Amino acid sequence: MARAQSRYVCQSCGASVVRWEGQCRTCGEWNTLVETVVRDAPRPRTNSAAGGGAPVPLSHAGEGDAEVRRPTGIGELDRVLGGGLVAGSVVLLGGEPGIGKSTLLLQVAAGVATTGAIVLYATGEESTTQVRLRASRLGLTGGAVADAIRVVAETGVGRITDLARAERPGLLVVDSVQTVASEELDGPPGSVGQVRESTLRLMELAKAEDVPVILAGHVTKDGTLAGPKTLEHLVDVVLSIEGDRTGGLRLLRAAKNRYGSTEEVGVFEMGDRGLAEVADPARAFLADHESPAPGSVVAPVLEGSRPLLVEVQALVAPTSFPSPRRTASGIDPNRLALLIAVLGRRAGIGLGSHDVYANLAGGLSVSEPGLDLPLALALASSLRDRPLVPGTVAIGEVGLLGELRGVGGLDRRLREAARLGFTRAIVPRAGRTAPVPGIELMVVASLADAIRAALPDPVEGRRGGA
Ligand code: TYD
Ligand code: MG
Repeated sequence: MARAQSRYVCQSCGASVVRWEGQCRTCGEWNTLVETVVRDAPRPRTNSAAGGGAPVPLSHAGEGDAEVRRPTGIGELDRVLGGGLVAGSVVLLGGEPGIGKSTLLLQVAAGVATTGAIVLYATGEESTTQVRLRASRLGLTGGAVADAIRVVAETGVGRITDLARAERPGLLVVDSVQTVASEELDGPPGSVGQVRESTLRLMELAKAEDVPVILAGHVTKDGTLAGPKTLEHLVDVVLSIEGDRTGGLRLLRAAKNRYGSTEEVGVFEMGDRGLAEVADPARAFLADHESPAPGSVVAPVLEGSRPLLVEVQALVAPTSFPSPRRTASGIDPNRLALLIAVLGRRAGIGLGSHDVYANLAGGLSVSEPGLDLPLALALASSLRDRPLVPGTVAIGEVGLLGELRGVGGLDRRLREAARLGFTRAIVPRAGRTAPVPGIELMVVASLADAIRAALPDPVEGRRGGA
């Protein structure tokens, strides 16, 4: 039974009942009832960030309230946020358990504390002792900074907001949103109703007191934020940390940003003193090889405005299963399946009786279409067991007919490749290809051409004097 102040509201039709049921009696949908606080007076629908009040001409909208940004002291994070934390904003930081959310949050807390502000750090997952031990690992204890970070082991959202109103911090950190709960609801912490109500309460606080709030949120195996998807609509910024937990590299992305672009990525390395910014992100995801390896192709991808050189790795091996395995990590599996089909039909690379494994080095995941060509070349290289000529990069989208399409920002990608010592680039004919100093362009029209350019027939290669 719900508390006096709460009802179970169907997310599909809006019907409300007193007791939780698996199926909504009104519309018949399953698992749509979410515990929700009911108030005598409905929650005001306007907030200070939205402005409220009378309509104003767009040209004068928001005049006078300059956007106040507070740098976090972590350059890569500020880059992703679009220049720092905006006063009154709510940021959700998602990531798998153990990826480094709490570490980053503590480093952010220290960064903000360095500017002289108080930081309130509410921990629901760890004890204050654990937080202090982590801080000392990070070298953050002692001195004024550590004093300016106020840690409290608290999971009641009401008490957290009361504390924040009293302390008036420059930043409120809540680790994690799945551990906080409102006294007004019956459901356990982490339930859809609790997570949403807690987030709403923290948003009210953020907007009313102009305090930026960062919430840590766990991400489930399938990559979605545990708890309601609606959380992503409520908050102002959704960040995610990803990476290979066993490797050191971490990528920070914005899935949503009301105050900036969602294009920029931040690159970090997890070391024994926490997350460090990577000095040269463009090369961070390249694997080191003694000698060129079959199945490895380097691709100059663009993450926002930042070119990254990533290594696509493929392994094909004769299968011993009735239906061959296709395993992709960091790469869209549908794209892999499509490329296998195109390779077979349009380029004479039959993989129908081979298991195929493909991944990106460094635990990166990339969704841009330009990764098609390097992936296809990596598959061909692995099947033939021959490496590409050292110093080669490839980029381009592959169509169903085996034709190639150009990618945006080719110039920027190739300049970065040249800077990192690459000398040859296999690129689609489509699109403008101005010469890039230091890079020999191999312009190809089809996937079959690209394979011939990447893996020249040994005899032909010799005749060509290579
Ligand atoms: P944590 O921030 O606790 O992850 P999350 O909050 O996302 O669950 O980080 C967990 C991992 O990071 C842990 O396995 C240990 C590692 N780590 C380091 O390698 N170096 C460090 O300095 C710290 C603090 C953690
Ligand atoms: Mg944590």
